[in-house]
Amino acid sequence: MRSFCVMSTVAVTVVLSPAFCNAGETSLVSQGRYLTQLAGCPSCHTAPGRPSFAGGYVMKLPMGTLYTPNITPDRETGIGTWSDDDFVRAMQQGVGRDGRHLYPAFPYTSYTLMTRSDILAIKAYLFSLAPVHNVPPPDSMKFPYNMRSLIGGWNRLFLSDRRFQDDSHQSAQWNRGAYLVRSVGHCGECHTPRGRLSQAMEQSKFLGGGIADGWSAYNITSDPIAGIGAWSSDDLKRYLLSGAAPGKGWAAGPMGLEVANSTRYLTEEDVLSVVTYLRTVIPVRAGDKVSRSAAAEIPRNRSPSSLDQMPGARIYDLYCANCHGSSAVPVADLYPSMRNESTVGDTPPRNLVMIILLGALDSFGSGGASMPSFARKFDDRQIADLVNYLEVQDGNPKASIGPGQVGGWRSQAP
Ligand code: HEC
Ligand code: HEC
Ligand code: HEC
Repeated sequence: MRSFCVMSTVAVTVVLSPAFCNAGETSLVSQGRYLTQLAGCPSCHTAPGRPSFAGGYVMKLPMGTLYTPNITPDRETGIGTWSDDDFVRAMQQGVGRDGRHLYPAFPYTSYTLMTRSDILAIKAYLFSLAPVHNVPPPDSMKFPYNMRSLIGGWNRLFLSDRRFQDDSHQSAQWNRGAYLVRSVGHCGECHTPRGRLSQAMEQSKFLGGGIADGWSAYNITSDPIAGIGAWSSDDLKRYLLSGAAPGKGWAAGPMGLEVANSTRYLTEEDVLSVVTYLRTVIPVRAGDKVSRSAAAEIPRNRSPSSLDQMPGARIYDLYCANCHGSSAVPVADLYPSMRNESTVGDTPPRNLVMIILLGALDSFGSGGASMPSFARKFDDRQIADLVNYLEVQDGNPKASIGPGQVGGWRSQAP
C-alpha cells in the first residue's frame, strides 16, 4: 500500500515522502488523512469556527434541516465506541451504529464504492485525532421526511451496495481516476442530474450537470460543447489544483470550496489519473452550439456606444470595474477576466447571478483576494440589467434574463 504525507501552504502543495511525515504518524494514518481530505469529510462535519470534525454544520435541504454529527473519537458524543464494521456499514450502506438509516445528504451513495481498506484508513486517521465533546442540535426534517424508515426503502431502490470494480480494458491510471471521481471524490453527487421525484442521481447522465447549493454544477462529461471536452489536460489539472484555468473557468462557488478543501491536495499522480478518466466520461450533449467558455467568440452586432447606453453598463463601471477592469482586461492577475469564462458564458446565467448575490465564497483561487456580496445592494431588476449587459459584452449575446428569474435564483441561494 502506498503511503505519503501531504503538506500544504497557501498556494503550493508539496507531497513529502513518508520519512518526512508528522512524527509518530503511521502510514495508515497518513493515507487516511489524504483520503479524508479528498472525500471532503471536514467540509461537512465542521461548523464554521468550531473544532474540526465535531459536527454541527447546518445543511438546509428542501425537506428540512440537518446538522452533521460529531465524528471525532469522543466516546460519548462522537464515534469513539464504533467498531470497524460499524464504520464500514455507515460508509457503504448508510446505516448508523444504532441501526438508524442515514439521509443520503451524507454521500454514501458514492462512498459505497470505496474499498474496505480505504474506509478503515479514514477511520484510523479520525481515531488519531483528539476527541471533542460536542452534541450538535437535533435535525428538523419535515413530515414525511422525518420518518427515517423511508430512507431504507429509498436505499433499496437507489443504493447499489457494491464496491468499485476495475475495468480490465482500461489502464491502471484510468481505473485509479475512475475510483477517485466516482467514490472518494464523489464528484457525481453535485455534477449529475437528479430525478425530480426520487432525487437520486441519474446514472445514465453521469456528470451531465446538476445543481449544488443553488449553483449550476456544470456538465463535466467529455462533450466538447456541453462539457469539458475542449479543455486541455493542463487546463483541467490547473483548475483542480489551483481553482483557476484562465480562459476556461474559475472556481468561485461550491467548487471553490471543493478545490480549497479537497482537490488541491491531489498528488501529481492522482490528478493525472482524475484528468485521464474525466476525458473519457460518456458525453452528455445539450442543444448549445458554442461552449460556455468560448461564448465570447460568438459574433455580436452592437456598436460600442449602444453597449455603453445599456443600464447595466453604469452598474458595472460603478461596482465591478475597480477590480475586474473596464473591459476584457482585468486589473491584475488576482481578478478573473469576464471574457471566455464559464460563469459569464453559461446560459442560463445562473452562476453569474449567484456570484453577484453571494460574492466569492472562497478566495483560494485568487491568492487571497475576495469579492463582496451584492445581494443587499442590488434589487432583482438591477441584477438582470447588469447580467444582460455582461452577456452582450462578453457572454452569449442572445442570453437575456428578467427580474423574475433573478428572484427565483435568489430564493435558492444558501
Ligand atoms: C456533503 C456533506 C457530507 C460529507 C462530504 C460527509 N458527510 Fe458524513 N454525514 C453527513 C450528514 C448530513 C450526516 C447525518 C445524516 C443523518 O442525520 O441521517 C452524516 C453522517 C455521518 C456518519 C454517521 C454518524 C452518526 O453518528 O450516525 C458518519 C460516521 C460520517 N458521516 C462520516 C463521514 C466521513 C468519514 C466522511 C468523509 C469520507 C463524511 N462523513 C463526509 C454529511 C456529510
Ligand atoms: C459540492 C458540489 C461539488 C462537488 C463535490 C464537485 N463539484 Fe465541480 N463544480 C461544482 C460547481 C457548483 C461548479 C461551478 C463553478 C463554481 O462553483 O464556482 C463546479 C465546476 C467544476 C468544473 C469547471 C467546469 C467549467 O466548465 O467551468 C470542473 C472541471 C469540476 N467542477 C470538476 C469536479 C471534479 C473532478 C470533482 C470531484 C473531484 C468535482 N468537480 C466535485 C460543484 C461540485
Ligand atoms: C473587491 C474586488 C471585486 C469586486 C468589486 C467585484 N469582484 Fe468579482 N471577483 C473578485 C475576485 C477576487 C474573484 C475571484 C474569486 C475567487 O477566486 O473565489 C471574482 C470573481 C468573479 C466572477 C467569476 C469569474 C469567472 O471567471 O468565473 C465573476 C463573474 C465576477 N467576479 C463578477 C463581478 C461583478 C459582475 C461585479 C460587480 C457587481 C464584481 N465581480 C465585483 C473580485 C471582485
